[in-house]
Amino acid sequence: MSDAWIKLYYKNVMADVIGAEHGISNSVLDDLADKTVPLIGELNEGRAAYRELPYNEDYPSAVKAVAGDVRGACENFVVLGIGGSALGNIALQTALNPYMYNLDEGQRYGGPRLFVFDNVDPVQAASFLDWIGDKLENTVFNVISKSGRTAETAAQFLVIRELLEKRLGAEKAKRQIIATTDANEGTMRKIADDAGYRTLVVPDGVGGRFSVLSPVGLLSAAVCGIDIDGLLAGARAMDKVVSSTDFYANPAGLNAAINFHYYNVGKPISVMMPYAYGLKDLSDWYRQLWAESLGKTKDVSGKDVFVGPTPVKALGTTDQHSQVQLYREGPNDKLFTFLQVKDFGCDVEIGPAPDCAPELGYLAGTKMSKLLNSEKLATEYALLKDKRPCLSVMFDKVCGETIGQFIYLYEVTTSIAGRLFAINAYDQPAVELGKEATFALMGREDFKEMAEEITPKMQIDEKFLV
Ligand code: PA5
Repeated sequence: MSDAWIKLYYKNVMADVIGAEHGISNSVLDDLADKTVPLIGELNEGRAAYRELPYNEDYPSAVKAVAGDVRGACENFVVLGIGGSALGNIALQTALNPYMYNLDEGQRYGGPRLFVFDNVDPVQAASFLDWIGDKLENTVFNVISKSGRTAETAAQFLVIRELLEKRLGAEKAKRQIIATTDANEGTMRKIADDAGYRTLVVPDGVGGRFSVLSPVGLLSAAVCGIDIDGLLAGARAMDKVVSSTDFYANPAGLNAAINFHYYNVGKPISVMMPYAYGLKDLSDWYRQLWAESLGKTKDVSGKDVFVGPTPVKALGTTDQHSQVQLYREGPNDKLFTFLQVKDFGCDVEIGPAPDCAPELGYLAGTKMSKLLNSEKLATEYALLKDKRPCLSVMFDKVCGETIGQFIYLYEVTTSIAGRLFAINAYDQPAVELGKEATFALMGREDFKEMAEEITPKMQIDEKFLV
């Protein structure tokens, strides 16, 4: 296990830095500590199923066995899934494999290309099917769905299954599909058992957005050469830290409490802004975790509360030239969380300035890492000048361990925030309604009544079409 670590830096939310109106005083933070510590204790006692994933030995060994068969034996690995069955896979790949990984024609990285399909856009799908059509023999599909009834994943799967069976025959097709699904029940389990697909398990009691450290996220990572043992070791190490009932030593407790506080004092928007391209899809993963877990109508007692901070993703430096004008001068209604990396593991030196442009000389001979991290500090400094609260998650470096730490830190932060908001962080009734309305609109017999209700309401009224 490497000793690389991540830390939460919270000085720049304090009143001493951004003033009493927008900053948090020591006494307010102490009050937040009093409120949060008992909740950490409760979460330690009734540990959610996702918290045990880093300790489970069966899942990684099953994943490694399948990955061992697949890794050298195919050129393309395609994940079919959506939401919690896709975002973690994408985040791990972007963070831990090279930017040009999929264009590795010389097979320098030793694994297949990875594609994660998390949509049903016909233009995207047609383009992909056109490309993959003559490569099916060298392509393995991992369909991930706990329920198997999610329309998008089911539709993708039905397209691929038909294609494989037509082109390769049923027997060969079955070797090209791996299903990750519930151990015992659901549509996908039924299909997989019936067809004889290889399967991996979506663990019981682990919702999609908390499942990245299970076979859901681990298989595509292992197939593409990512150190899944490092990920799990990082998560285990973070578990120790975020279980602490010493509030000031617990980054998940502090993070949840600070976010909760700002939500309640008129800053309901949480912007996550990595200053590392590799971390950009982690903020997409965080966005789902935060939004689906914390956006709720009712609290645990059934009272209407309509809570939920709005997560926003941005990328440094790209979005400095897109969002920062708003972030500095627009409403002071946001809490910023930067992700900052100390050691990028490689660097690029900037070339000399031409004689005619001596004003670019300050860049010559310096490193891109210095420029990127200077821009992070510069943006944070500018936001602080305008009294905008800023947190930073500081990565020693980006590796399996630190990504595992980050994932676990944010999962536990979300659980604690759920307790602070007194809502159920683990359900998603609003998403379920959308799924059912889709069944209705797509003509599922058992949703006929719902279709009758929806159809007239959703018909275009020409009066309002201009
Ligand atoms: O976090 C969640 O629970 C959701 O995003 C699900 O992962 C998503 O809706 C896909 O569900 P399923 O795995 O059942 O196809």
